[in-house]
Amino acid sequence: MNGDPGAGATRGFTFAHLSDLHLSTPAALTPREGLGKRALSYLSWQRKRRHEYRPEVLDALRADLAAASPDQILISGDLTQLGQPAECEQARRWLESLGDPLRVALVPGNHDCLLAAPWAATLGRWQPWLAGDEPTPESTPFPSLRRRGSVAFVGLSSAVPTAPLLATGRLGARQRARLESLLIELGREGRFRVLYLHHAPVPGEDRWRKHLVDAPALAALIARAGVELVLHGHHHRTRDAQLDGPLGRIPAHGVASASALGGHGEAAAYSRYRLWAAPDHWRVALERRRYQRASGTFVREEVRELSMPRCPTQEP
Ligand SMILES: [Fe+2]
Ligand SMILES: [Fe+2]
Repeated sequence: MNGDPGAGATRGFTFAHLSDLHLSTPAALTPREGLGKRALSYLSWQRKRRHEYRPEVLDALRADLAAASPDQILISGDLTQLGQPAECEQARRWLESLGDPLRVALVPGNHDCLLAAPWAATLGRWQPWLAGDEPTPESTPFPSLRRRGSVAFVGLSSAVPTAPLLATGRLGARQRARLESLLIELGREGRFRVLYLHHAPVPGEDRWRKHLVDAPALAALIARAGVELVLHGHHHRTRDAQLDGPLGRIPAHGVASASALGGHGEAAAYSRYRLWAAPDHWRVALERRRYQRASGTFVREEVRELSMPRCPTQEP
């Protein structure tokens, strides 16, 4: 297991994290939608969001990803504006342009689940990207699990329909129970466990309107079972937080929107990770890349090295 977590020993294993693409153009609302939660989101998109989340930024992102060719790409939700079936189809076409679903893994965000909707017509359109390695019931694939060499990518869905003006998330007891046994199993296998979800997992960090309702239960679970890295979106901001784990503090990284011009907050960014295994620890190089409006390209903003302990039960 030393040296090579799944790809060439010198190159290390690479993965990228992006989020909050908001890439679709919603259709005019039906009379029923016009009275409900989608109406508020539609107005917000018409007035502001369509000028901020831009397809040309996503074109630049796709080119930057193609040049780097990471071994796995993780997308932590909010591909759409309102979660309409036609938007999910638009997002599917974008996903197809990104590459083989075996290399691109996805969890939904709150914008993708604004209203309860038939699975097959909405999130079901993304099934190859939502799926883990093992067959699972189509409408409940979470936690999803992909083993890639010494790395395990575990995806959670925190996306649930909420009342108007709320953007909260929830994992639920069933998903959390399955997650805990999975993390323990993957720890025993000696894998570098990457957990990714849409909402921020750190309790008390968010305003009530946007928080993950069961973040305290998730944090307690992580403190017991352990994980090496947690990734999320939702804020459209770069964030470095930490969670308690059985072997020390665990990094929890938030990423900005992948399509934002930067007129109303952070410009688009995404993160690249490169991983190597040492006998008693994991070595991770983090590179954050930011969209530059002048050049229309993503460029390196920050490079940092992280080190995480390896679980003592792991095989040397
Ligand atoms: Fe978002
Ligand atoms: Fe969100």
